Amino acid sequence: MLTGKTIILGVTGGIAAYKAANLASLLKKQHADVHVIMTKNAMEFITPLTFETLTVNKCLTDTFDRNFKFEVEHVELAKKADLAIIAPATANVCAKLAHGLADDMLTTTLLACQCPHIIAPAMNTRMYENPITQDNLHLLEHYGFTIIEPASGLLACGDSGKGKFPDEGLILEYILRAIAYPKDLAGKKILVTAGPTQEAVDPVRYLTNHSTGKMGYALARMAMLRGADVTLVTGETSLTPPPFVDTIRIKSAHDLFEAVTSRSEEQDIIIKAAAVADYRPAVVSDEKVKKSDGDLSLALERTEDTLSYLGAHKRPGQLLCGFAMETSQLEERARGKLERKNLDLIAANNLKVAGAGFGTDTNVITLIDKQQTRHLEQMSKEAAAMEILTVLRDMMK
Ligand code: CTP
Repeated sequence: MLTGKTIILGVTGGIAAYKAANLASLLKKQHADVHVIMTKNAMEFITPLTFETLTVNKCLTDTFDRNFKFEVEHVELAKKADLAIIAPATANVCAKLAHGLADDMLTTTLLACQCPHIIAPAMNTRMYENPITQDNLHLLEHYGFTIIEPASGLLACGDSGKGKFPDEGLILEYILRAIAYPKDLAGKKILVTAGPTQEAVDPVRYLTNHSTGKMGYALARMAMLRGADVTLVTGETSLTPPPFVDTIRIKSAHDLFEAVTSRSEEQDIIIKAAAVADYRPAVVSDEKVKKSDGDLSLALERTEDTLSYLGAHKRPGQLLCGFAMETSQLEERARGKLERKNLDLIAANNLKVAGAGFGTDTNVITLIDKQQTRHLEQMSKEAAAMEILTVLRDMMK
């Protein structure tokens, strides 16, 4: 959420200017106070009225507009802003900002801004790849701008290549990462596992479970937004991994064991939200198993218990958080796992409780540590992730 945050959205004259309307709307939905500044050329593509309707603020377009109440408008806004973003940024505005030119409302305001500033260049591929533009972008980076790389694809001019306006959702993530939450996990390395595992039976089939990965992905994203250096080890899911997170894809419980244990030593916190298979087929057939092979019975063998291994090899100061999904005797069983696996925290949820478990957007979690049990109300998986991270952060102190 961006409640209480003032954001300057600079819109410059490229065809992607119309997409800035969606960004303004996304920012408004996050409760930001959005002030749009348009260049003259931007107004050829989209009107100020669009942004004024979306942001409920006057759209600034001209330094010398005499209808404003008299104060040094660009300086006032620059002082008030928590963040400035230019999206889309043309090659022209990148060049002007890189060299300190300030000849309109947008560039003068940006020059007066001391808040974090982000730039999302969008232009024709040849213009983007031109060494002059590239040098200007490097200069802007040097001066502290965060540059969002343009996307690749079919451009409005008919060319194909790099230069497309990035996904508005991705731009929002950049903004949230910059200013949305206290960066109380900065400098911490956190590894999260998410999703189901798949245990092959033959080249066609596998054994798995109903995990969708939502809880683990929410944990990884929230930890990232709170400043942590996050690794996400994920089984197959339909979710898009959060940006700024090092994502490692795995299939089986054995892959997960390898991926996690090879990275566990350097982690400050490991959170195991993945639903890991306890058993796998003892023999994986190289060929597709046929009906004509006769009655099939599947011999199973145990997989490695990654969390038990981590508990047994925990380095001093490292925190381990497990998950327990049960259908009965929740607290007792979860506490048993906490002790057996040498964990610091376990997030337990009962699959049979409404609003908890696989595939839902909410969860009803009981947080159990060595000292106490806390029953949380039903809440979104994002909110539950925040609670878990806060408890772990306090344990680190
Ligand atoms: N876990 C793991 N490796 C496994 C099985 C589970 O790391 N092979 C982790 C899960 O990621 C979870 C925790 O252990 O964080 C508890 O998983 P759960 O399946 O609830 O418990 P189990 O120990 O497997 O016990 P049971 O299946 O009997 O409930």
